[in-house]
Amino acid sequence: MEWSRAKRYKKFADWSQQEKDDLLNKIQHSPWRMDVHIQPKSGLLNDPNGFSYYNKKWHLFYQNYPMGPVHGLKAWYHLTSEDLTHWHEEGLAMIPDNEFDSHGCYSGSALPVGDKLFIMYTGNVRDENWERYPHQLGAWMNKDLHIEKIKSPLIVSQPKNYTDHFRDPQVIHYNGAYYALIGAQNTQLEGEILLYKSTDLSSWTFLGPLAFAKQSLGFMIECPNLVFVDGVPLLIFCPQGLNKNVLDYQNIYPNVYLIGNHFDPDHAVFDSGQMINNLDEGFDVYATQAMNAPDGRALAVSWIGLPEIDYPTDQYGWAHCLSLVRELTIKDGNLYQNPVKETASLRTKHIQLQGHLHNQLTPIMHDCDRAYELDIELKGTGSGRLALADDGLNALDLLFDFDAGKLTLDRGHSGVQFAEAYGTTRTTTITRNGQINLHIFIDNSVAEIYVNHGRKVLTARFFPSDRQTQISLETNGHLDYNCNYWSLLNGK
Ligand code: FRU
Repeated sequence: MEWSRAKRYKKFADWSQQEKDDLLNKIQHSPWRMDVHIQPKSGLLNDPNGFSYYNKKWHLFYQNYPMGPVHGLKAWYHLTSEDLTHWHEEGLAMIPDNEFDSHGCYSGSALPVGDKLFIMYTGNVRDENWERYPHQLGAWMNKDLHIEKIKSPLIVSQPKNYTDHFRDPQVIHYNGAYYALIGAQNTQLEGEILLYKSTDLSSWTFLGPLAFAKQSLGFMIECPNLVFVDGVPLLIFCPQGLNKNVLDYQNIYPNVYLIGNHFDPDHAVFDSGQMINNLDEGFDVYATQAMNAPDGRALAVSWIGLPEIDYPTDQYGWAHCLSLVRELTIKDGNLYQNPVKETASLRTKHIQLQGHLHNQLTPIMHDCDRAYELDIELKGTGSGRLALADDGLNALDLLFDFDAGKLTLDRGHSGVQFAEAYGTTRTTTITRNGQINLHIFIDNSVAEIYVNHGRKVLTARFFPSDRQTQISLETNGHLDYNCNYWSLLNGK
């Protein structure tokens, strides 16, 4: 199907019922739908938006183009949950319908204020010459989940010396005032994060570009987020076009973090003695949204998908998913990410396995479920392989080398291939102490791999056949394994 610009930006109301039914029908016949991850009901899902806790429920929205697996007219799709794990689909919540968001309700955030939820987002507008006019907009959601957009923009346009790449406001409440961090590009075509302040959420003052890095960070910064992890400021953002001398990465665009010492908003300073790092060392994480929950936790959720890349589900009319919700902690100056404890409520059948291997390859589990969790402790010598979604020929491989202190995720023969131009392996370092803990979530076409209790995370989409149902282990030395396996089911 040819996705012309006119078609991508056709109003939702102008699509016929037949076209919508055909799309749903196509999706129904798709392999690779997930059991426990958030995936689009139809079309394309991208950034998580408006992640918040309001009126005794968790709220999460995502960028959705519901008419096909392409980036078209974007709306916000709404989900609610009582446990961050079982999500109820509330449906499309904000669609482009006025002069300030006519070409997309782009990414943004939400904050409970009084008895309502305040939403701040970017309205994307294009004129007849396809010139872009970004506006930072507001909306209020009430307890009935009714959203009322604020009639005029909160921030009409980018400040002078900035281009039309100005989007993705994160609104936070800090030391008695409201601040918004907004992704931007300056007229030298460098990415920046702009900081605004407000005391009433309606009038916003530009404080300046946030000073947080000494080097130039590429041509645009998308989706900036500031959270506090036990009081430590943590900046998460997506620098596009980042020089690989600043940070080594292989994905088309990285999603990075920077641990700070001190955040001084009124001087627009985020002071850090550290280097930026990849938030996820796998293939597909982008546009992470983080927030401080009222229970004190710092939580994050990511888009598992990347801009400008085709995925094998496109032919079935849908694309991408969100990650499990992760809790962020900092220990000894290092960031840890783990699925929130509530994730355990998805567990059903439990199997425990253990054994010893010497210089051999052996299946340890047959007929795995479509969605499962595996917590595996490996101790040994030499190097080896944990083959997930294995059928003897194809597998999603985790190659561990105890001597070199390396872990490689290889999706190069895990099923239908895609994005090969960006490499089919990702490697991270592990402590050289002859052991590794891998906490793995497989949900049909997505893998989340938490290494050594969340010190590293590797996330990947992969597209296996339905014969790939085995887990195998291989070693060229000695290997003790001890693992817990649970089937996962979204029983609600
Ligand atoms: C990031 C992004 C944001 C933008 C949104 C549009 O993936 O490009 O910068 O607001 O997607 O869907």
